[in-house]
Amino acid sequence: VTDAPRTTLDAVSLTIGGRRLLDGLSLDLADRRIGVIGRNGSGKSLLARLLAGLIAPDQGRALVDGVDVARDRRRAIDTVGILFQNPDHQIIFPTVEEEIAFGLTQQGLGKAAARGAAHVMLDRFGARDWAARPVQTLSQGQRHLVCMMLAALDQRLIHITHDMAALAGYDRVIWLDGGAVAMDGAPEPVIAAYLARMQGLGDDDAVADL
Ligand SMILES: Nc1ncnc2c1ncn2[C@@H]1O[C@H](COP(=O)(O)OP(=O)(O)OP(=O)(O)O)[C@@H](O)[C@H]1O
Ligand SMILES: [Mg+2]
Repeated sequence: VTDAPRTTLDAVSLTIGGRRLLDGLSLDLADRRIGVIGRNGSGKSLLARLLAGLIAPDQGRALVDGVDVARDRRRAIDTVGILFQNPDHQIIFPTVEEEIAFGLTQQGLGKAAARGAAHVMLDRFGARDWAARPVQTLSQGQRHLVCMMLAALDQRLIHITHDMAALAGYDRVIWLDGGAVAMDGAPEPVIAAYLARMQGLGDDDAVADL
């Protein structure tokens, strides 16, 4: 068994149009199942795009096994071993099938074999007809089921969600606020603090539909 690739953010900041959208993020993303939460506009999707090499930080670096993601996206994505389960996306994988197949190519399967195995997995969950659908057209419960398929593949996961229940059993939850880490740790205390803050703000976007 080889060590999982190590993904780290080193003092990453991103400013667009004079607004600092990500503010000095330093994270070591070594855990198998990581949830990312935060209110609307807190920087979750920007973080995913950054890790996928779709945007480059203007300060700091995102590294996957020492490879700068912004410089060598292809190599980073090939090694990252992290799967974004991002409801708003089409960031990396346009369809459910590709999302699942990616996890399998990470485990060494060829592309065709991975695709075939993804179909087997979808069949097993009674979801054969989801294969060609964009993840964003699935309901929240259906996306949750896709996460369970990925978990069945023992795939590493960064799961960006507003659905706190989906993060039960995760190793770690990162709460982003204003492009910075508000709290980072075991799911229960982080989610409890987040929900308490949201209630304090009288803010309902934490449970808004995605
Ligand atoms: N290309 C861009 N240009 C300017 N501002 C942007 C750009 N992309 C994102 N932003 C801003 O950055 C902030 C963070 O956006 P992001 O999409 O990461 O939020 P989020 O946490 O994913 O929110 P949600 O929960 O609604 O999906 C928001 O204020 C957003 O308006
Ligand atoms: Mg988002």
